Amino acid sequence: MTGLKEVLTNAAKKAGTIIHQRFQGTFGITHKEGVNNLVTEVDKEAEAAILTTIRERFPEHGILTEEAGSFLKPSDYQWIIDPIDGTVNFAHGIPLCCVSIAVKYKDEIILGMVYNPMMNELFFAEKGKGAFLNDRPVRVSEKTDFSRAFLVTGFPYEWPADAREHPLRVFDRFVMQGLPVRRLGSAALDLCWVACGRFDGFWEYNLQPWDVAAGYLMVTEAGGRVTDFDNRPAGISGKQTLATNGHIHEEMLRLIRPGALD
Ligand code: IPD
Ligand code: CA
Ligand code: CA
Repeated sequence: MTGLKEVLTNAAKKAGTIIHQRFQGTFGITHKEGVNNLVTEVDKEAEAAILTTIRERFPEHGILTEEAGSFLKPSDYQWIIDPIDGTVNFAHGIPLCCVSIAVKYKDEIILGMVYNPMMNELFFAEKGKGAFLNDRPVRVSEKTDFSRAFLVTGFPYEWPADAREHPLRVFDRFVMQGLPVRRLGSAALDLCWVACGRFDGFWEYNLQPWDVAAGYLMVTEAGGRVTDFDNRPAGISGKQTLATNGHIHEEMLRLIRPGALD
């Protein structure tokens, strides 16, 4: 459909400008279900700018957005929006946060954009056409030696009682191998940084569609692989995310869920 990329870019840039202008300023902060799951005034302002931009051009499209919720429409198109991914970083003046927007057509994510205005980094991916950082094509890393992998992960605010294993036990298995593992606080950036080869792999439990929809496309279009912890193709529920350069995928799976490949 014509104009999708233009609207996607305008929406991400408008939100990015708001985030950049308000960064390290004064704004109201409240919290959601958990006391540390923050939402700021700026999340809502950025989200409003994105919604206005999309609706001006595509009023018939469906929208799923983190703060305002779901606006269902009888359309094959749905926009999936996280106005600020990395809100806790943003609220503390740490420049690791971004806007993340994906466009779904029928059952497939076809476009994704992740914009970190503080670093002036705009990631874009289009189904079948590659992944780009500031208009330059990006690829996942070529590292095959897992013992030298550089990894990133994240932890949920709350851990469901019925979960198979606590995430710190999984984290422990990576650390015991002597592997460097970072926790940056923005899943969308974690995925983009795998896509552009800064990290070799990323895993996290209990993410949401708006955290991952754009980033999954970025990784796969950059030549990487995304699955759940049973090595099945990852849907965009975000419940289990393993995204890698492809070469170290099975080694990571063995540590995350021993027996997953049996
Ligand atoms: C959060 C970030 C973080 C992840 C959390 C998410 P938010 O998104 O992606 O890295 O660990 O689970 O909720 O709340 O900043 O949009
Ligand atoms: Ca998020
Ligand atoms: Ca958010």
